[in-house]
Amino acid sequence: MTSGRIQTPGALPEEDDAVERSLRPRRLDDFVGQEAVREQLAVSIEAAAARGDALDHVLLAGPPGLGKTSLAQIVAEELGVPFIQTAGPALERKGDVAAFLTALEPRAVFFVDEIHRLPRALEETFYPAMEDGQLPITVGQGAGARVVTLDLPPFTLVGATTRAGLLTTPLRDRFGIQHRLEHYGPDDLGKIVTRSAALLGIEIEAAGAHAIAARSRGTPRVANRLLKRVRDYAEVRGDGIVSESIAAHALDLLQVDHEGLDRLDRELLRAICEMFGGGPVGLSTLAVAVGEEQDTVEDVYEPYLLQRGLIERTPRGRVATRRAWSHLGIEPPADGVKLF
Ligand SMILES: Nc1ncnc2c1ncn2[C@@H]1O[C@H](COP(=O)(O)OP(=O)(O)OP(=O)(O)O)[C@@H](O)[C@H]1O
Ligand SMILES: [Mg+2]
Repeated sequence: MTSGRIQTPGALPEEDDAVERSLRPRRLDDFVGQEAVREQLAVSIEAAAARGDALDHVLLAGPPGLGKTSLAQIVAEELGVPFIQTAGPALERKGDVAAFLTALEPRAVFFVDEIHRLPRALEETFYPAMEDGQLPITVGQGAGARVVTLDLPPFTLVGATTRAGLLTTPLRDRFGIQHRLEHYGPDDLGKIVTRSAALLGIEIEAAGAHAIAARSRGTPRVANRLLKRVRDYAEVRGDGIVSESIAAHALDLLQVDHEGLDRLDRELLRAICEMFGGGPVGLSTLAVAVGEEQDTVEDVYEPYLLQRGLIERTPRGRVATRRAWSHLGIEPPADGVKLF
């Protein structure tokens, strides 16, 4: 496993990072789609606020770029409490956790991104903190060492993960509120593109927004990134207005196809079909074949290909479906597509 940050396809340069922050929805009402999650969170937040309690701990799971960090910030904003942020890999020692927890203001949101990368040994520090608001710490060394228990202010731990499956059951069970974000449909993505265009002062036609939405692999971060690249194209090759045909030309130039697949998506499909006869092929072999980190293939690329029905997971590895062969425009082998 690597310690590098998992990125959505085509890593974000810093300039995009700043724009991404500016496009973040700030309140639940600005957060497009994911109706069930939004509604349930709204109820939990209102109830906790009315009682004056800290909100129960929240676990947000789902592929990169779907809005986990945005939602965590929104929870703090809606509760009107401070937002303190760290990430699993940044917490190395028990003291790191203690420093954060003891400094929290009452009812604050403590956001731990990539919580599946929290060192196992530190998980146990979180259990009593999450359950009883207690933090046992060891004072002194050797024979004189003793354990004192600090009482913590009530707080809300919001954990985000691209891989809920990697969380241990005891940790997962301590989150009273658990939500999974799913890929967005084209209508919701269209709304996100339209909203972002307005915030960035980009003139866009409804059909242009839709064309971008349709090729954004169900991911708001990708939609926002494509919008900016299409704007560049509109300014240089057109009159600055993002129309359907400008969007289509720009996206072709960016090698994003009509299913929203980018070059690496297609390379993955091609590797399964052409190098491994349609599969099954193990993920690590596949990652080597396309020269990408296994984590990136698993977290970023595979969920969308699975969701589009282009690949399937079998006990022996990944298999290309009929749709994959036809998407690539190549004939499956004579003995058929091997799904089992
Ligand atoms: N529901 C939404 N409505 C509007 N914009 C959204 C929504 N979800 C995400 N976005 C946009 O997508 C960007 C990426 O979202 P965010 O950073 O919250 O994703 P994430 O799930 O935390 O990703 P990662 O797993 O990579 O940390 C945000 O800056 C925001 O502009
Ligand atoms: Mg995030």
